[in-house]
Amino acid sequence: MRVSVVGTGYVGLVVAACLSESGNNVIGVDILTEKIDRLNSGEIPIYEPGLRELVRRNMDEERLSFTTDIKAAVEKTRIIFIAVGTPPGEDGSADMSHVLSVAESIGRFMNEKKIVVLKSTVPVGTNEKVTKTISALTNHPVGVVSNPEFLKEGAALDDFLKPDRVVIGTDDPEVAETMKELYAPFVRTGNPILVMDPPSAELTKYAANALLASRISFMNEMSRICEKVGANITQIRRAIGSDRRIGHAFLFAGVGYGGSCFPKDIRALLQTAKELDVELPLIGATEQVNEVQKLVLLPKIKEYFGGELDGITLAVWGLAFKPRTDDMREAPSLALIREVIGAGAKVRVFDPEAIGEARKVLADYSDHITYCDKSYEACEGSDGLVLVTEWNEFRNPDFERVRSLLSRPVVFDGRNIYNPGLLRELGFNYFGVGRR
Ligand SMILES: NC(=O)c1ccc[n+]([C@@H]2O[C@H](COP(=O)([O-])OP(=O)(O)OC[C@H]3O[C@@H](n4cnc5c(N)ncnc54)[C@H](O)[C@@H]3O)[C@@H](O)[C@H]2O)c1
Repeated sequence: MRVSVVGTGYVGLVVAACLSESGNNVIGVDILTEKIDRLNSGEIPIYEPGLRELVRRNMDEERLSFTTDIKAAVEKTRIIFIAVGTPPGEDGSADMSHVLSVAESIGRFMNEKKIVVLKSTVPVGTNEKVTKTISALTNHPVGVVSNPEFLKEGAALDDFLKPDRVVIGTDDPEVAETMKELYAPFVRTGNPILVMDPPSAELTKYAANALLASRISFMNEMSRICEKVGANITQIRRAIGSDRRIGHAFLFAGVGYGGSCFPKDIRALLQTAKELDVELPLIGATEQVNEVQKLVLLPKIKEYFGGELDGITLAVWGLAFKPRTDDMREAPSLALIREVIGAGAKVRVFDPEAIGEARKVLADYSDHITYCDKSYEACEGSDGLVLVTEWNEFRNPDFERVRSLLSRPVVFDGRNIYNPGLLRELGFNYFGVGRR
């Protein structure tokens, strides 16, 4: 099939690469000339495991190309994915300007019947709005499909190539059939393609993210009680996760969730509910718990160092909002770093992939931050170690070396990845989240 994907970010680039891998001819489109130039020279602008190889292979096979020319892409392809950003507007609602601007371009350049696939996460009602926007500009028929994406950064290729389910939101049976054909190579093990009405498809994405985020906030709330009564949140997680009705995923207490999806999608859902005069107290609380949770280590750090942090240097391991990505959007590390710097500390930071992105978002704090090339370098001359993002390489460090580099033997473990007993045996003071 002839497909274009408008927006070549974390989602669009994965969609374009994976659809070309299954034999389709795919054109990736973006407004950023620099990004398209880099892609055309074989460089991948983001870090996502396996993506570079997949993009290069399909470019070599001439099934995948990139352009800034949306007119040409619309004219040459029959299925057009919209995968541009929907960042939070000032009131928390999803900013739809990019999606609608792409819809207008499609309407203007349509030269035959097209299927337009809404891959971006968009509020309920967007399918209808995009249909109207396009139809106002062309006489050619258009079928707009709501097809939310559930991939996780860090495992995006696997998630797209082997989805748990595919959601297709359309009332047009012919469009549904084409979409099923497009996705057929990815669901050969029998995972379902669920065809439903567009509003249900649009809401499904928000429901999934809100539920996953609420599991994390729930466990973070439980961890607060654990700290008061001497219980261990890790033991509780294992025990309740073993219950098949509950399962193990998304039950980790820590410094909270971040990223480009959970925080923004939850705020957008709350805003939609407000506009509809519907109360969503559970989802509102999920967000509030998380905001507080991002700073859960701060009082522990302050107490250990005797109040304010003037003259204290902290090593920070992990900056990205989660491992295996360079995405810094709403990363919990940002809230913590800004606060400790505000309290007088300096930080020496290391992340395997996100240093470049971190430099951009923390530019205002650069006088107080040393960016390190290696994990142990961050510990050199630091007073204590703070673990924020649980990259695999941080899981089993040489603790003797860490201790010899730190002026005070203390570890603040924001993801509960270390064994507290072992660390204490090795002479560290250890502070986790919801356990001693
Ligand atoms: N990142 C994730 O893990 C994830 C997962 C599922 C769904 N989503 C959703 O997918 C959408 C895209 O997210 P992302 O993380 O890939 O965003 P992103 O910011 O990484 O990428 C968006 C891309 O769209 C481009 N763009 C913006 N306006 C454009 C226009 N008018 N024409 C062409 N290109 C344009 C930008 O230059 C950018 O390259 C969002 O709605 C997001 O909520 C994201």
